[in-house]
Amino acid sequence: MYLQRLQLYHFKNHSERSLEFCNGINTITGSNGIGKTNLLDAVHYLANAKSYFNGIDSQIIEHNAPFFTIKGHFQGEAPADILIQFEGGKKSIKKNDKPYPRLLDHIGLIQTVFITPYDIDLVLGNSDDRRKFMDLSICQIDKAYLQNLSTYKKTLEQRNALLKSMQGRYIDPDLLSSFDAKLIPAGLLIHESRKAFVADLLGFFVGIYQTLSQGSETPAIVYESPLNEGDFQSLLQSSYRQDMAAQRTTVGVHKDDLQFNLGEFPLKKFGSQGQIKSFIIALKLAQYNYFQRVTNNHPILLLDDIFEKIDEQRAQRLIEMVGSSGYGQIIITDTHVSRVETHFQHLETTKVHHHL
Ligand SMILES: Nc1ncnc2c1ncn2[C@@H]1O[C@H](COP(=O)(O)OP(=O)(O)O)[C@@H](O)[C@H]1O
Ligand SMILES: [Mg+2]
Repeated sequence: MYLQRLQLYHFKNHSERSLEFCNGINTITGSNGIGKTNLLDAVHYLANAKSYFNGIDSQIIEHNAPFFTIKGHFQGEAPADILIQFEGGKKSIKKNDKPYPRLLDHIGLIQTVFITPYDIDLVLGNSDDRRKFMDLSICQIDKAYLQNLSTYKKTLEQRNALLKSMQGRYIDPDLLSSFDAKLIPAGLLIHESRKAFVADLLGFFVGIYQTLSQGSETPAIVYESPLNEGDFQSLLQSSYRQDMAAQRTTVGVHKDDLQFNLGEFPLKKFGSQGQIKSFIIALKLAQYNYFQRVTNNHPILLLDDIFEKIDEQRAQRLIEMVGSSGYGQIIITDTHVSRVETHFQHLETTKVHHHL
């Protein structure tokens, strides 16, 4: 499936905007602040029913407007019109004019891979960002995971609220374990899914990184989880005292992380700027390949300001990779029209250019 037409109403700084895209390379240029990143975010929203950047939908509505609307016309084996509307604190999604019973029923129809300058947080930020990467990857292809994740988060919140309300005082273990009955099955499934995801991702990742960086170092991604160390139930039980003192749940998949290494060294501490950027791009292209293998479909690749901070050679290798036949629809933003022209003019693929 590819996005043929995008229409926005009151989506961030786009009061009203309609754009046509091709099933190839689409470039969007315009000066800083004109709304290029916002356009890509709207495409991400169409697929994932939420913004990549901002989880608070009311802030996505154009200032002083009453609602936002995103419309997407998708072409492919099963053409579809997707309509997302947010008004009065309520979000609704329709496919071909029919509302979905639950928002989550929409997830999985379209996959997007988004590469933005903000992704630097994946490496330099805290574990939250890396869990978010895993979750967004698995949620896009697995509704059961999405449901487990929501059960886990809700139960964890309730358990933590109890621990907090007791302010370090003793809590009857039976009371805590009543939450554990829900936390454990959800946590185990999340752990299994993340472990399998990282293993699958690695299969694509190493080769892509090496092609991009032309370096000799071997990159690695290690999935770290308290649940790697033992049985979740025993881990929870042996942490009761600690949880009461800390006033929160100290063990579980909400503590998971990904360790990124080059050779034996942590990327965060020892990686050069260039190595970090290659790592992130390779991670996202591996995610692309992973979606493609699971769904047998091309995801939509969103490349935000990709030429801004990456060096010329790396940019060229990236273009060669994504311009090859293995990739479907790509939407690229840049501030410089001339830079976009030089990078893409030699490619045979179908191309569309918009200047905002
Ligand atoms: N809810 C909103 N209403 C109106 N404008 C918004 C809203 N959210 C963000 N913006 C504006 O969008 C602009 C940034 O757009 P962005 O897509 O980041 O631009 P670009 O990527 O082209 O540099 C900023 O001027 C910002 O103030
Ligand atoms: Mg931008």
